Amino acid sequence: MKIIIDTDPGQDDAVAILLALASPEIEVLGITAVAGNVPLDLTARNARIVCELAGRTDVPVHAGCDRPLARDLVTAEHVHGKTGLDGADLPDPQMPLAEGHAVDFLIETLRAEPEGSVTLCPLGPLTNVATALQRAPDIAPRIGRIVLMGGAYFEVGNITPAAEFNIYVDPEAAKIVFGAGVPLTVVPLDATHKALTTRARNDAFRTAGRVGEVVAGWTGFFERYDKEKYGSEGAPLHDPCVIAWLLKPELFTGRDVNVEIEVDSPLTRGMTVADWWGVTDRPVNATFIGDVDAEGFFALLTERIARL
Ligand code: BDR
Ligand code: CA
Repeated sequence: MKIIIDTDPGQDDAVAILLALASPEIEVLGITAVAGNVPLDLTARNARIVCELAGRTDVPVHAGCDRPLARDLVTAEHVHGKTGLDGADLPDPQMPLAEGHAVDFLIETLRAEPEGSVTLCPLGPLTNVATALQRAPDIAPRIGRIVLMGGAYFEVGNITPAAEFNIYVDPEAAKIVFGAGVPLTVVPLDATHKALTTRARNDAFRTAGRVGEVVAGWTGFFERYDKEKYGSEGAPLHDPCVIAWLLKPELFTGRDVNVEIEVDSPLTRGMTVADWWGVTDRPVNATFIGDVDAEGFFALLTERIARL
């Protein structure tokens, strides 16, 4: 399966990238960095650090959009630390950024690969993907599926009471992506907040080899914020759920529903209004994931990380 990971690393993004690179079922055609958890220069740097950690300097990393389509950038250093990858001491990347803007890479790759053969995996704000769709509408029918981490329904927001961070940061971009007519799987907080780290799960990472030790350092760092906020035992590993869905969709359950994005209201900006109970006639545009088998998810993740 060919994928492009669009990302704003972020420790959980980093673990998602590692899961993809560790999995023989998946061919990562490239990684496109976007501004989100931290500014673009750091997300583009962090993506390369992760490739080098996995020994995969052959994967091109392209820098993309440095701000949302219509708003100022909101970042999340309070969760991910100053660098976005706090928690492990890793060297500056030696591999250069790939030439060309991430949006051009997305457009050119989707035009070059057989129609329907590429899955896009956005793990951050949707600015790069929306810009590509806006600039080159011909790519929409060429995308096999978009599987993204973002949004919330029952669980509602983490950055505001109503909105999840990725959608909140660039709601105009999300509206474009959700309205593009591309098959869409949405992994929202409702699912990811069931994929919580625990002491035992972190210990399993720590003993899963060199890369596993780094992963345990990252999860140990960013769970501090979530433990205090939610009073939970650990932190949700949001973004790796996207890659796990590609590998083992049977670990997840959800519903095919309509999802619309709130862009106007200052109170509920970035809310994903999911018609979970089918109370409107609005057309289905997404598979909205509601649950994950957390044990199965962590078993898969740990086993794959141990291969690196
Ligand atoms: C999402 O926001 C980021 O902080 C995480 O990397 C994840 O993609 C969760 O709301
Ligand atoms: Ca992310």
